[in-house]
Amino acid sequence: MRLKFLLICPAFLLFLFCQKITAQTNAHAINLNCEHLYNPLGIDAANPRLTWMLDDRQNGAQQSAYQLIVGTDSAAVASGRGITWSTVKITSSENLVAYKGKPLQPFTKYFWRVQLWDRQGKKLAPSALASFETGMISQRNWRGAWISDNKSVDAKPAPYFRQTFKIGKKIRSAKAYIAVAGLYEMYINGKKIGNHRLDPMYTRFDRRNLYVTYDVTANLQEGKNAIGVLLGNGWYNHQSLAVWNFDRAPWRQRPAFCLDMRITYTDGTTEVVSTDDTWKTQTGPIIFNSIYTGEHYDSRLEIPGWNTADFDDKSWKDVTLRAAPSKQIVSQAMQPIRNVEEIVAKSIVKFDDSTYVLDMGRNIAGVTKVKLNGESGTIVKIKHGERLYKNGHVDMSNIDVYYRPKDKNDPFQTDIVTLNGKGPVEFMPRFNYKGFQYVEITSSKPLTLNKEDVTAYFMHSDVSAAGRVSSSNPLIDKLWSATNNSYLSNLFGYPTDCPQREKNGWTGDGHFAVETGLYNFDGITIYEKWLADHRDEQQPNGVLPDIIPTGGWGYGRANGTDWTSTIAIIPWNLYMFYGDNRALSDNYSNIKAYVNYVSGISPDGLTTFGRGDWVPVKSSSALEYTSSIYFYVDANILAKAAKLFGNKQDYSYYSALAAKIKQAINNKYFNKQTCLYGSGVQTELSMALQWGIVPDQYRARLAENLAKRVAADGMHLDVGVLGAKAILNALSDNGQGETAYKLAAQDTYPSWGWWIVNGATTLYENWDINAARDISLNHMMFGEIGGWFFKGLGGIKPDEQHPGFKNVLLQPNFVSGLDYFNASHDGPYGKIVSSWARTGNTITYNVIIPANSSAAIRFPGKAATKVYLNGTRINSIADYKINAGSYRFEIK
Ligand code: BGC
Repeated sequence: MRLKFLLICPAFLLFLFCQKITAQTNAHAINLNCEHLYNPLGIDAANPRLTWMLDDRQNGAQQSAYQLIVGTDSAAVASGRGITWSTVKITSSENLVAYKGKPLQPFTKYFWRVQLWDRQGKKLAPSALASFETGMISQRNWRGAWISDNKSVDAKPAPYFRQTFKIGKKIRSAKAYIAVAGLYEMYINGKKIGNHRLDPMYTRFDRRNLYVTYDVTANLQEGKNAIGVLLGNGWYNHQSLAVWNFDRAPWRQRPAFCLDMRITYTDGTTEVVSTDDTWKTQTGPIIFNSIYTGEHYDSRLEIPGWNTADFDDKSWKDVTLRAAPSKQIVSQAMQPIRNVEEIVAKSIVKFDDSTYVLDMGRNIAGVTKVKLNGESGTIVKIKHGERLYKNGHVDMSNIDVYYRPKDKNDPFQTDIVTLNGKGPVEFMPRFNYKGFQYVEITSSKPLTLNKEDVTAYFMHSDVSAAGRVSSSNPLIDKLWSATNNSYLSNLFGYPTDCPQREKNGWTGDGHFAVETGLYNFDGITIYEKWLADHRDEQQPNGVLPDIIPTGGWGYGRANGTDWTSTIAIIPWNLYMFYGDNRALSDNYSNIKAYVNYVSGISPDGLTTFGRGDWVPVKSSSALEYTSSIYFYVDANILAKAAKLFGNKQDYSYYSALAAKIKQAINNKYFNKQTCLYGSGVQTELSMALQWGIVPDQYRARLAENLAKRVAADGMHLDVGVLGAKAILNALSDNGQGETAYKLAAQDTYPSWGWWIVNGATTLYENWDINAARDISLNHMMFGEIGGWFFKGLGGIKPDEQHPGFKNVLLQPNFVSGLDYFNASHDGPYGKIVSSWARTGNTITYNVIIPANSSAAIRFPGKAATKVYLNGTRINSIADYKINAGSYRFEIK
């Protein structure tokens, strides 16, 4: 009894917490965002999207109307007068509206607020003021020149740049706009501006470059000021050699940048300090930097005060003027990369007085910061890896396999620091990151090192958390957390496959993980940027490379539908999770070009354009079958998008194409007698269910056959990436939730849990932890399970008819292996909670649906199951519809 109480306790506490917040009544709009960002700077969009939520915890809470007010005068907007744009009272429950007022002016701060009316038509208190500030808007508004030092692409040291200027008047505001080909850090009067890392995000540099905007008002002073800019190579000037040929990228050049600092004085005048040929440049202590391998720092070459006003720069050289890297210099309107988490070392082993190995306790993407004290000229190597050899040294054999160094000067995942003998040197690489758990530090002369001298930083695009899961099975909780660790380790302004071996934007890995990503994190800005990268990369014939961005690698026969369907699948999921169709409309013609290409090479509806079920356990599935299914998925998404945008012709053409593909797949691969697909292995059966290939009347039987297949495989997985994406959903969506859970909670080989019981804190690339190849320890391609927890156990699913969780489909599975399960997701309307606990034969099911949305609950189980809401029996045979609010059901 006592034990049971403890087990249901977390679910109960959550419920109590939810009850508590129900008491609040002062309803109004909150979380006002522009372009899915909070009070952003540097907005270039002509019609930025404005979004909000209704904060009203009363049952049935709903917005009946809204009125938007936008203007440059905050006092006027606050009092309800919008000069720039003001809508009338609009009867609608929408909470996402694109700006449609007067053309937005560059460099202008706009304030906005939204007035809501509740369900009864009562006018609510207006929202607090929010703002967005425009950036360049048009290329013509740039004043600065692109500058660089005069060195070749092969030059190793990083260039430093500086400029001084005087301010004689009182400043009202100052904004810096910096566009960089490569990476940068910017300083004003000795202080680093902002806390971003690895800015700007990686794009196809010869097609599109990103600029970043900062408010630097507080950094400037009356009198003399100095700006310092330090440039790194990043992906722009890839000097390390690997099989992906980034050293041969068509855009490759010595890094360059362009800066405009716009200062507005209190007297209303404006001055722009820009890059031009009077800037000075020099090299310094960063003697080598590679995004792929590491950074080398010679502290004897430090230039104290180089970014301050009184520094003597007589010996510095003139800069050269350069052409802009592309014709599209656009705002970086997205969450930046940051050092998000600081991690202290768990242990240190001293091998001798110049060799140490530290264990950071968990696998991450990021950097180490080291504090080193030793004689001048001591060379310290800091090597990062995911595994240790039996002898305790760092083993990189699982991750340096695609690296092709021409000599020993650029070791993999290794920073090299030369000490100056003047006291402790603190070093953290600026233009590199790695994937690692272990750090081996070796030095050319004896060195004293303590555990505290090494700190790790988990770096990633700093997206906020949007989902939580907790359960009575610690393995499930650990899997959820490992999945998120891998997701974030692979989010650096674009989704990557792994943070160590490749750092490549593998398309397949990106869409296999998109639902997990969106259930758990508010990642829309990263995906929209990545889709722009897709548009930059698409060939005129519609083809996409299988890594994006690419320097040229990634075309052939394998870059087919199972990978490059990102172009359709990512926009569709953004629409499902955010109810925002911007990505679908921005990429509509790209999806169409892509589908037309595949259609052209596959006239009968079947295609072998693809890679196949990658890294399976033992089975294999026909390439034509799996690739054709993704071809169907794309054609279907395109047809649905056409319908959404009212394009009747496309709708009928692409729905017919989708039907033809489906028919062709079923004709060739479906055996109606046995109700099996292909050779009947897990991937084949799962994909037909997950992607809607199987005719409805066979669905339940196919799911039974899949469950039987899993049982015959000893309740173990026998899938690669395509099967791993499909199998759990295929089971739990079709009445086989118990089998799905057994697979998810399996802890012997092969399974997700097998990694965890072997100490994994991230997801791996291979089911076999002793595999000889394809064994990165931080891969996201098997990561669908992290999204499945929300869907298959919590049952929180978007409703295609009312996307963005306007209506939530709640289809939980009270699986017998769990005593309780809690899931919550912060959707566009607010927090959705689905939380259940078992006491004896009774399930208590707590639900919260945010204001302005609704839900349809499908209770699992037999018709004989009795469901009670507040003690009253309800009809649980059909979907049970609820409005916003908190509900507590009992299922007996
Ligand atoms: C990557 C994968 C990728 C695969 C494609 C690997 O090297 O790490 O994640 O999807 O290649 O075959």
